[in-house]
Amino acid sequence: MNRPLVLLCSPHPNGVSDTVAALFAQGMADAGQQLRLLPLRDYAFAPCTNCGGCAAPPHRCTLDTANDKAAQILQLILDAPLVLLSSPIYFYSLPAHFKALIDRSQRFWAGQAHDAGHAAAQLKPVLAALCAGRSRGNKLFAGALLTLKYFLAPLHAGIRETRLLRGLETTQDLLERPAVCGALRSWGHDWGSRLAALPHEAPHGQAAPDLFAPHLPELDPSAPDLPPQDR
Ligand SMILES: Cc1cc2nc3c(=O)[nH]c(=O)nc-3n(C[C@H](O)[C@H](O)[C@H](O)COP(=O)(O)O)c2cc1C
Repeated sequence: MNRPLVLLCSPHPNGVSDTVAALFAQGMADAGQQLRLLPLRDYAFAPCTNCGGCAAPPHRCTLDTANDKAAQILQLILDAPLVLLSSPIYFYSLPAHFKALIDRSQRFWAGQAHDAGHAAAQLKPVLAALCAGRSRGNKLFAGALLTLKYFLAPLHAGIRETRLLRGLETTQDLLERPAVCGALRSWGHDWGSRLAALPHEAPHGQAAPDLFAPHLPELDPSAPDLPPQDR
């Protein structure tokens, strides 16, 4: 089975969202899972120009060249049995390079009308850890969550769980909260254990149905975030 993928979505090396991902990864390692940590900032790709090249079958991207890494990264997302997206909130949204990758997935969006569609239980589980400096704001994560939802849908993936972390301007703000750090490690351990329990013959790039239980309701980006004691 392919390894779980942890996509580090911030331009800031060893910043807050990298640290969140590292805590999750520690938990997964404790559960015996090897994962792939991928810092998106290390991979160059051009922004979508809306050239229209992917609009008609076979929905190819005209920017997919050997030196452009977007297709490879999107393929890693497609192949992984589980993906953690660890990202900061920048201006109520996702950081520019991550958004550029999302825009490059337009060929999947263009192709989905020709697709049979997938039941919710068949969606690849994606975990989203979003970090914000502000401690308030009902809509702090709303835009990012909507963007992720529509990015993932044509990839046959969906957000299973989120950690919406507020009041984290700096890595120090996170490290000063041992309960939050411990909860992030436990989160990784929990998903590592679930993956370890999967049969090895799970279909390529897909997780077996037991990984998806219990089924979570549709995401409501305007719903309240973590209770105050978890922030
Ligand atoms: C360009 C930029 C824009 C930001 N915009 C917001 C924002 O809209 N709301 C917020 O709460 N924090 C905002 N922040 C703070 C970051 O979300 C916060 O510091 C985050 O933990 C940084 O994570 P990182 O170190 O992984 O990049 C912004 C920070 C930067 C650098």
